[in-house]
Amino acid sequence: MTFSRRDFVKTSLLGAVAAGVGTQAQGEESEQGAAPERDAQSGPHKRPIIVCANNGYAHLENAFAFLKGGGDTLDAALKVVKGPEDDPDDDSVGLGGLPNEEGVVELDACCMHGPTRRAGSVGGVRNIKNVSLVSKAVMEHTGHVMLVGEGAERFAVALGFPRENLLTEHSRKIWLLWKEFHSTKDWWGPGLADPHWQPPATGPASKDKPQSELWRQRIEDLQARAADLGIEPEHRLAAVHKVLFPQTGTIHCSALNDKDEISGCTTTSGLAFKLPGRCGDSPIIGAGCYTDQDVGSAGATGSGEENIKVAGAHTIVENMRHGMSPQEAGLDALKRIVRNYNGDMNKLRFMDMTYYILRKDGAYAGVSLWEGYSKGNPHKIAVHDGNLRAEVAVSLMKGYSQEYPPFPDIPEDLKKGSVYLK
Ligand code: GLY
Repeated sequence: MTFSRRDFVKTSLLGAVAAGVGTQAQGEESEQGAAPERDAQSGPHKRPIIVCANNGYAHLENAFAFLKGGGDTLDAALKVVKGPEDDPDDDSVGLGGLPNEEGVVELDACCMHGPTRRAGSVGGVRNIKNVSLVSKAVMEHTGHVMLVGEGAERFAVALGFPRENLLTEHSRKIWLLWKEFHSTKDWWGPGLADPHWQPPATGPASKDKPQSELWRQRIEDLQARAADLGIEPEHRLAAVHKVLFPQTGTIHCSALNDKDEISGCTTTSGLAFKLPGRCGDSPIIGAGCYTDQDVGSAGATGSGEENIKVAGAHTIVENMRHGMSPQEAGLDALKRIVRNYNGDMNKLRFMDMTYYILRKDGAYAGVSLWEGYSKGNPHKIAVHDGNLRAEVAVSLMKGYSQEYPPFPDIPEDLKKGSVYLK
């Protein structure tokens, strides 16, 4: 669904969030049908249990068996997030993550171990793919909590982590395409001397060539450039989409065992094409992840800058400490993001956030600011409590987030949904 002006009015802060109108109700349909009463205040809730972002789904079975067999809760959560970190095809985390604006992959991660009430974190780490494990090493092998940049990399190497080039060919080509997309403003991309050089397709629109048509042309040109760079045909549209609308991909995981021990961790390559040195929420204890052995654990994926400002994971755990259910606690944190923009939907529609929440008694929830990226692409959480499943997150607001940065004249069918997300 495209978010129309009428929908904005319907979901304005006063009209919807404060009054609860336009918010999703508990018990939305999940992948397998109606969602269970997962957020009820009273139990019994199943334990052990692992809750994570849906890109951890494929790694939950193994981690759950480890947890059930008596494995440590943090080690179980790390087993889940290590999967996408090792996967060169997941371009949001670890090896193959999309790089910063200089073409260098920089990773962030943190973890908290509930039973021993310890934490570790690393930010802006280059050349080491399993930064979640490095964050655990900071926790276990230093008197510090957070290491960043070159110091974090040298520490990891000292601990035996291998140095490797994290920029896969696939991510390098997408980054080059991004450079060429901006080449009207710098010296990257083919210059005037190139026999195929043409002025950019966008420019003054005319009756014969409206902006939407110019954009269609420009996107076709980008696909041709993607072909020149050697991006496979089936990946070209997705690559163009990533270039136009850089994403923040991430994975969070929280794990609880049958002794009521709980831990969490979060890892990411952060915002694609970010400024070198930019750290998002993922390495910030209390934003991207927070675990309190007395209460529960929470983590986030989405707009890191917004989550840092509401200390999202800590806010959620504190809310649960004061009696809110996991779902209420998460929706309250999302409302704080809405409040930071005074409910201005013209801005809020360009950001998104999903929280993964696990209370110490096994109650859990997944909540998101918007329903997802587009119809058919809802935000999901993955859960394993003996039964592995994906569930649709409960959203604060009806409708779908919009791509950022806004290019008002791109035709809707070229923006997202079926065209790009295949
Ligand atoms: N949430 C990931 C980031 O913003 O870096």
